[in-house]
Amino acid sequence: MRKVYVAGNWKMNLVDDIEPIKKISNEVKNDIEVIVFPPFTHLSAYSSTLKGSKVKIGAQNVFYEDKGAYTGEISYKFIEEFGCDYVILGHSERRNLFKEDDQMISLKLKKILSTNIKPILCVGEKEDERSLNKQKFVVENQLKICLGGIENNFKNIIIAYEPVWAIGTGKNATPFDAQEMHSFIREQLSFLFGKNISCEISILYGGSVTDENVKDLFREDDVDGVLVGGASLKGEKFARIIETVNKSLI
Ligand code: PGA
Repeated sequence: MRKVYVAGNWKMNLVDDIEPIKKISNEVKNDIEVIVFPPFTHLSAYSSTLKGSKVKIGAQNVFYEDKGAYTGEISYKFIEEFGCDYVILGHSERRNLFKEDDQMISLKLKKILSTNIKPILCVGEKEDERSLNKQKFVVENQLKICLGGIENNFKNIIIAYEPVWAIGTGKNATPFDAQEMHSFIREQLSFLFGKNISCEISILYGGSVTDENVKDLFREDDVDGVLVGGASLKGEKFARIIETVNKSLI
């Protein structure tokens, strides 16, 4: 069975009420991993606060070199020191606002796969690309470039399908559309890594996930969890999402 993830991407925000998240995470089934992604500057503080709970911590980005003259960048060694088990790579805000391209994301992914940290690679089409029915073409290209040349540790990869038009807009993909893209992504993974490995890689959905729509999204066969932005910023709300996933998992 594939691991199920409920991940909260806090972006450039802090979350005060993390008690409900800690509490519910200690009660969920073993197949579920709850992860929060605070800003870099607060990884240490949240790492201490979350100690003793089952909530894992991750970073929102990382650079591909270990150290050196890279002003403003962060090495995997630093996030590892703060207890990060996960890192988000290629989020659409990094791609679109900070001009990260697939080649750079691929270098980051390869670096991270040589460490004990697990990457969550984000892919997804923009609104105009979907309206031209190009979503599969776009996602296929992103996967090909980002994952090309990877030779080992494939199983550590987690994919997040995040259609850009659904991020922070309140317009989530329908469960049908999400399933269609997730099964397409799994097919691409099987071309790249073989069928067996593609069946082991978790594919999360992200884009306006709430405590109300998570049940229907998670019901789909190839949706193995969610990457949540806005709705992860309120402890109670995020805890309800975790609880719903837990209850839906047979
Ligand atoms: P959202 O963000 O849930 O606020 O749409 C998701 C994300 O950016 O990962």
